[in-house]
Amino acid sequence: MAANRCKLAVLASGRGSNFQAIVRACAKDDFPVEVACLVTDNTSAGAVKFAEENDIPWKYVDAGKKRGRLQPGAEEEIVDVLENAGVELVFLAGFMRILRGPLLDRYKSRILNVHPSLLPSFKGLEAQKQALDYGVKVAGCTVHFVDASVDGGPIIMQAVVPVEDDDDFDKLAARILAEEHRIGPEAIALVASGEYKIEGRRVISKTT
Ligand code: GAR
Repeated sequence: MAANRCKLAVLASGRGSNFQAIVRACAKDDFPVEVACLVTDNTSAGAVKFAEENDIPWKYVDAGKKRGRLQPGAEEEIVDVLENAGVELVFLAGFMRILRGPLLDRYKSRILNVHPSLLPSFKGLEAQKQALDYGVKVAGCTVHFVDASVDGGPIIMQAVVPVEDDDDFDKLAARILAEEHRIGPEAIALVASGEYKIEGRRVISKTT
């Protein structure tokens, strides 16, 4: 097991397949990160079930009823949870709320998000549907730093998949998801290692 592993919190609202991929990556002896906790705005999320099955501490935060938003006080509560767990790095794995305030201030350049499109194309909801509707021939996913913009922070990693003529939402989303599960842990390991620099909007790995 790597010594002094970086403590990661995952924030997730739903199915939790990215959370599972991250937990599995962290189970490897040489992975430089450990999952300290899961934070969710949805107690019936698949991510919660997986956390319980794997003895990972999880915490529910009431984010409020407004879709996509966090109610006042919710971000402060999340900061408290993360600080109490000694968290140094945060990954948004299908956390369907926009961060705007205290969490961004406390974890500046330490929050990553995975999005199912090749940003800056197709920001926001149902990115895979947006890609299909637009008629692009390649699609993919992005892991990026989170800032106050929506899906707009510096890009850490991207992966490309083809769009096949007979694709529907589910087929394309599954192809993209497999790549999310690959580059999510890779991006986490890179940021945890500190082996990168940010020049303007460009995140440049020092090891390549
Ligand atoms: C993933 O496809 C992720 O990229 C997307 O939600 C899904 C969560 O799946 N996130 C966004 O669209 C954020 N803008 P999961 O719960 O199985 O990890």
